[in-house]
Amino acid sequence: MARWRFPDGFLWGASTSSYQIEGGNSAADWAVWEAEGRVHDSCGAAADSWNRYAEDVELAVSMGLGVYRISIEWSRVEPEPGHFDDDAIAHYAEWLAHARARGLQTMVVLWHFTNPTWLTENGSWEWDEAPARFEAFVRRVVPRLAGNVDWWATINEANTFARHGWLTGEWPPGKRLDYPGGFRVYARLADAHRRARSAIRELLGASTQVGLTHVVPWTHPAERGGGFSAGCIAFWDWLTTFAFLDKVRGEFDWLGVQYYYDSPCKTLHYDIDDGTPPRTDMGWRIAPEGLYAAVMLCWRRYGVPMLVTENGLADAADAQRSRFLLDHVAWLHRAIAEGADVRGYLHWSLLDNFEWAYGFGPRFGLVEVDYETFERRLRPSGELFGEIARANELPEGLRPDLRYADGQPSLAPNPDAGTP
Ligand code: BGC
Repeated sequence: MARWRFPDGFLWGASTSSYQIEGGNSAADWAVWEAEGRVHDSCGAAADSWNRYAEDVELAVSMGLGVYRISIEWSRVEPEPGHFDDDAIAHYAEWLAHARARGLQTMVVLWHFTNPTWLTENGSWEWDEAPARFEAFVRRVVPRLAGNVDWWATINEANTFARHGWLTGEWPPGKRLDYPGGFRVYARLADAHRRARSAIRELLGASTQVGLTHVVPWTHPAERGGGFSAGCIAFWDWLTTFAFLDKVRGEFDWLGVQYYYDSPCKTLHYDIDDGTPPRTDMGWRIAPEGLYAAVMLCWRRYGVPMLVTENGLADAADAQRSRFLLDHVAWLHRAIAEGADVRGYLHWSLLDNFEWAYGFGPRFGLVEVDYETFERRLRPSGELFGEIARANELPEGLRPDLRYADGQPSLAPNPDAGTP
């Protein structure tokens, strides 16, 4: 590989999710959660992508992206148990066909956090019928969308969902420190993944490649060179990553690795706020080398083809996103140079959207959205991302930084990738 060039056919793309961008999802459990005043914003029309998807697609095309990710809103498709809205399914089919006609590959995630209210009223993902209900939904939508989907994924971030719904209580169903409940959710979501994958393969052919997406934090010693417990890191890696993925090991054909921040670990403390800059608008640490670490962790353990399916930051001023992109993508380049089979990088997010418990404040988009007019505008970092995508390499003269924030080289130099 030439310096900073990516393999031929490497896919550059951007991700979104249904509830966060579409608007009008009043049958979702999150709509009830907001109505109860649990979030200071109400998602309402979101970015109105349900009506403006063609604009979103055009923005992806204008950046020269190769793949575009959406998810299917279960609560819209099955607002009442067993009652399917075929017009909604047809709308998704048109949306995906349009993206395909504009030359994009499409990635569909079948479940991205939100649930029909009836599911949550029955115990959410602790309900023993949840996996079978999900399978019925999958069997209904998959044949209708199939001709226009390149990448199927089942479950997005079981770990984030269980964490916020059963430990922090920030998301529906709002339980706190309920570890047994959280593990029941892992088991049900693993079952849902297996059932969905089998259904897709039965419907579309046994060789259909079905993946899932998972956020993988990089847990590492809080103090370089000591003062940590290896057991503590192993525990957090297990809790956040392996406890769920190991349940479906051997049953996913590709893995979507999602990485946002590192977690310095000291004894049993996790995600220590040591005041180290730089941080995002949400206070998350920026540690690009963690993308390398997360990818290598998964590559060594699971050995399946991977895509980075989310990586990004809240940055309303767009002051840090270009640097963030360059550095993360450079670390990904190193992982590939060292043998990890990574087929693509999708940024989170294509456009500003509803950031769950934080509402509309955080701005994750390569594209800025005006929530009054729904006007979209490509940010300068989006232009840079387009430049990278079109060239399939990092631009000459823009040098990524392969160091820790403290200025020390974090890994031995890689002769293929070049060093700062
Ligand atoms: C989720 C997205 C979310 C993003 C930023 C990921 O965990 O899949 O829905 O917006 O992180 O918090």
